[in-house]
Amino acid sequence: MDCGLHASVPTVGRVELASSAARACALIEARQTVLPKRLAAPGPDEGQLQQILRAAGAAPDHGERIPWRFVIVPPLARTALAEVFAQSLAERDPAATAQQLAQAREKAHRAPLLMLAVARLAPTAADKAPDDERLVSAGCAIQNMLLIATAQGFGSALTSGKALQSPGLRALFALKAYERALCFINIGTAASSRLRRARPLPADYVSALEPIP
Ligand SMILES: Cc1cc2nc3c(=O)[nH]c(=O)nc-3n(C[C@H](O)[C@H](O)[C@H](O)COP(=O)(O)O)c2cc1C
Repeated sequence: MDCGLHASVPTVGRVELASSAARACALIEARQTVLPKRLAAPGPDEGQLQQILRAAGAAPDHGERIPWRFVIVPPLARTALAEVFAQSLAERDPAATAQQLAQAREKAHRAPLLMLAVARLAPTAADKAPDDERLVSAGCAIQNMLLIATAQGFGSALTSGKALQSPGLRALFALKAYERALCFINIGTAASSRLRRARPLPADYVSALEPIP
């Protein structure tokens, strides 16, 4: 990733800024998905967890509505989540085998730190912050958390799946009608490493608006 400095950056402080930019680039590049089955203990300690959670609060938030929230799933609550995963699978596939149900349950017990990311969408049609903005803000908050976890040396992954939209999960997390479960955030110690995927280049996703003649 090119993290060159703008020419207007004054000479004084240039070295410091350049090294900050290089560090930020290295951090962004270093983040990669480490699937929950490869996330082992230890997870973040209390101080690290607070740092991760504070990073979410630095996300852009139009109108300062805090259009997201995160629900930590501590070890003692994992069994209830496991039952929701199994129940959701059984509802989708009544022929699911005992082994498949056990696999679904096991997903709740993998990552040392597990959080549900919830978007708080507009509670009423009159609310001025549209859902698109709220979802973008949620994505920024989640990425902030992933980056801090990476800087702390942890592996992380976002996971989704059909159970996210199930009535059982909505009930377990007491989601309001205007709230949407977005994904789980999994954080822990990477038990093994994998090659990072080749990232797309700006040419793959950037264009410029043609001036109107
Ligand atoms: C909202 C969201 C949900 C995701 N859910 C899953 C998932 O259920 N299972 C999975 O293997 N990866 C999931 N991912 C991770 C992507 O597969 C991963 O980010 C992508 O492959 C790019 O790899 P990287 O994160 O290492 O750059 C999810 C990503 C996002 C943004």
